[in-house]
Amino acid sequence: MTTKTKSKKTTKSSPDLSVEICGYRFKNPIWTASGTCGYGEELDTVFDLNRLGAIVTKSITRQPRPGHPTPRCSEEASGMLNAIGLANVGVEKYVTEKLRFLDKYDVGVIVNVAGFNFDEYVEVCAMLADCPRADMIELNISCPNVSTGGIEFGASAKDVERIVKAVKKVFPRPIIPKLSPNVTNIAEIARGAEQGGADAIALINTLIGMTVDIYTRKPNLTNNRGGLSGPAIKPVALSMVNKVYDAVDVPVIGIGGASNAEDVIQFMLCGASAVQLGTALFIQPDLPIKVEQDLKKYLKSQNLSSITDLIGKIEKY
Ligand SMILES: Cc1cc2nc3c(=O)[nH]c(=O)nc-3n(C[C@H](O)[C@H](O)[C@H](O)COP(=O)(O)O)c2cc1C
Repeated sequence: MTTKTKSKKTTKSSPDLSVEICGYRFKNPIWTASGTCGYGEELDTVFDLNRLGAIVTKSITRQPRPGHPTPRCSEEASGMLNAIGLANVGVEKYVTEKLRFLDKYDVGVIVNVAGFNFDEYVEVCAMLADCPRADMIELNISCPNVSTGGIEFGASAKDVERIVKAVKKVFPRPIIPKLSPNVTNIAEIARGAEQGGADAIALINTLIGMTVDIYTRKPNLTNNRGGLSGPAIKPVALSMVNKVYDAVDVPVIGIGGASNAEDVIQFMLCGASAVQLGTALFIQPDLPIKVEQDLKKYLKSQNLSSITDLIGKIEKY
């Protein structure tokens, strides 16, 4: 982050991976996606979390939640379907235990917040206001796996504007609404978020899907439906990121199926200032390290000194 990161001077042999988003400097554009790395503790056993640009933690709600009964994940062709149901420790335990764990790392901490009604979003964001370790909030208004809240707020530009405006009043640092792809006009929703005062916009959350066991004739998830993630959704995500990049002036954070450096580069060319790795972490938990190395190799091969030279540089027909 701005205050802590000691970014090395750019030299020809070491391209600069740092990106500036909402006035904060991240050492690289590689973030983890909410719900795919818990609160960071497990990932820390695999690689040094300091190597990440930022960690986006699992959605937290006002109260702890066990989530849906299992089975709540199903492997699909080129992806996975999940209906975890926002299992989390609740904001109080998050603040006293989980955020504290991240204290020792020089990494951006983005707290993903979910809610079941308007007031819950505002209350949880207000409770994070005095936690300086919560650098930014990613507002999950796009969860497809709960019956109220989540995606209900993310489906209307007016509601998105209203909720962003409300949380901006109680949280003094950047707010990043996370948008759902399960809408008709993503650009309109993004403009609603910007209108409400969003500092950046993250997208996409999962695409609603279903899968059935042909012998029991039961859906493979107890929630019946779930959210599709992984490589299968990358083209949808790239298209939406690019639409939103063209529609708003705030930075865009790309999410959806990114599994290697090439994918990250594609997201950045389409307009993303940072890219979150999600489902791919389940296959290769130390992927961020490999991506970081491969991004440097790519920049060198292209004679580019800074990764920011890629942002939005797609040459469309
Ligand atoms: C198991 C699982 C749990 C998730 N939980 C959350 C969550 O709590 N909050 C959230 O905003 N997104 C959640 N997501 C969505 C991811 O953050 C991401 O938006 C989505 O998976 C697309 O990226 P990917 O294809 O790289 O995984 C979850 C995804 C998975 C696979």
